[in-house]
Amino acid sequence: MSASSAAAPVSRQQIPARDRLIVALDVPDVAAARAMTRRLGDAVTFYKIGMELAYGGGLPLVGELAAEGRQVFVDLKLHDISNTVEKATARIAGLGGRFLTVHAYPQTMRAAARGRGDSPLQILGVTVMTSYDDAELLEAGYAAGVRDTVALRARQAREAGVDGLVLSAGETAEIRPIVGDGMLLVTPGIRPAGADVGDQKRVVTPGQAIRNGADYLVVGRPVTGAADPRAAAEAIVAEIAAALEAR
Ligand code: C5P
Repeated sequence: MSASSAAAPVSRQQIPARDRLIVALDVPDVAAARAMTRRLGDAVTFYKIGMELAYGGGLPLVGELAAEGRQVFVDLKLHDISNTVEKATARIAGLGGRFLTVHAYPQTMRAAARGRGDSPLQILGVTVMTSYDDAELLEAGYAAGVRDTVALRARQAREAGVDGLVLSAGETAEIRPIVGDGMLLVTPGIRPAGADVGDQKRVVTPGQAIRNGADYLVVGRPVTGAADPRAAAEAIVAEIAAALEAR
């Protein structure tokens, strides 16, 4: 079993293949989450608790999973005035998770970086949702398009002192030189070949994501919606391991 959430993170290049798979526990309540983690067993070492489960009473699971030796990504995508983001981040830091997301607005990222203080919590800036394409960004009032918006927010994330970014694995190769070697690139929108895309737009296979330089892969429905979630997770870990060998 990997180290607990509070353990010092290993360097980006040394992360074992299994620990690079983050399974999104997008289920309605704690009972469903526990049922899924039981089914996945030792196949999965890193879980993501997002809005659905958190608002369904799932936040205590952060500490519970961490106590079991799992790493936990608290995906709450904070965005509010600085004072609120800073104080909320400080509260979340006490839960025992490894990652927390905030939207990649400069003020918001700076506030979260202050709020986590000396805790081991790492802040990830969400650049542009992987369910958005250029047309949907334009509809929301952003004329610059996905590529330029992600690049702008990556530069701002570096300046704000956060630890990493959430972005599509189609963008990681272009963004790495902007953020430098130290920052973590975490990629949702992952779909094994032939899997249902659902509402995601900018999708990449697990192997391609690793070849593109992603550090962590967030996968929800392709694992949790599979007939055999454990086998689906193992297949993704094997694909990650093979891609790492070739990297
Ligand atoms: O089921 P699926 O693999 O599409 O789940 C992806 C997960 O990653 C979801 O929990 C979603 O909230 C999250 N996510 C995302 N795009 C982002 C940030 C987070 O899909 N930009």
